Amino acid sequence: MDRRGPRAILMLVCLVLVADRSVGRAQEPPKTVAAGVYTDEQAVRGALTYERACSGCHRPDLGGGSGPALTGERFNRDFAGKDVKALFTKISTTMPRGDAGGLGEDVYLDVVAHVLRENGFPAGSRELDAGGLEGVRVLAAKVKPPPPMGDFSYVEVVGCLASGPGNTWILARASDPVVATPPVVAAASSANTARPLGTLTFNLLDAMAYAPDAHKGHKMYVRGLLIKLPGEQRMTISSFEMVSPSCSE
Ligand code: HEC
Repeated sequence: MDRRGPRAILMLVCLVLVADRSVGRAQEPPKTVAAGVYTDEQAVRGALTYERACSGCHRPDLGGGSGPALTGERFNRDFAGKDVKALFTKISTTMPRGDAGGLGEDVYLDVVAHVLRENGFPAGSRELDAGGLEGVRVLAAKVKPPPPMGDFSYVEVVGCLASGPGNTWILARASDPVVATPPVVAAASSANTARPLGTLTFNLLDAMAYAPDAHKGHKMYVRGLLIKLPGEQRMTISSFEMVSPSCSE
């Protein structure tokens, strides 16, 4: 029996352990993304950029479309065991396709935070910054249970469009949000738009892009990313359709 194989592997393991020691600060265990290497707020910013600049190819849930999945097995194969820096470098030097490197370092750091969060790694108390990319190891992604209604769900609501303070727009008397079912890019079905109004209020992000003035006071259907913050619910808009020119039901 050839015993060189196992011995070579053992040697390699020892070398890796030794190398690891010399890099790490004395006695500290190697740092991983399980330690909370980004903040909640940063991941929220990253989610907004992701939705605008990445979701078209990688899908809103990172499940993969014309670009590969950024979660699960594919993520593990390409990034688990490497430094966060590898993930950052891949994204910041090659993405978004067609505008590689175009977003700026801080924005890329935010997007990395979002990708880490979507792979099940926890937020912590310090933002991920350029100095914190090396020596922090990516672990295998946690298999995510189907998303509970909450942060970063794609949802559908109906409500009354109203202007808020300082050029902002809100959806008032809005229905409870319902998780949007794929394909989230399709037009709204009548079952989705026929929902009764409710009592919630959503602050709409980027509403200006949808000529909201023309729909003030109308009953609107909105689909987008729900972002729950303490005391406030925000929604990005990926679909915005009029249900009725009045909002008086
Ligand atoms: C126009 C489509 C498109 C857009 C927009 C886009 N990507 Fe990609 N992405 C791809 C394709 C195609 C690949 C596979 C080829 C490659 O690795 O370059 C890829 C690969 C990747 C990979 C490597 C995945 C792996 O396992 O190899 C990451 C990470 C990634 N993209 C993140 C992003 C992020 C973050 C954004 C937004 C800032 C983004 N992409 C925007 C198409 C796109």
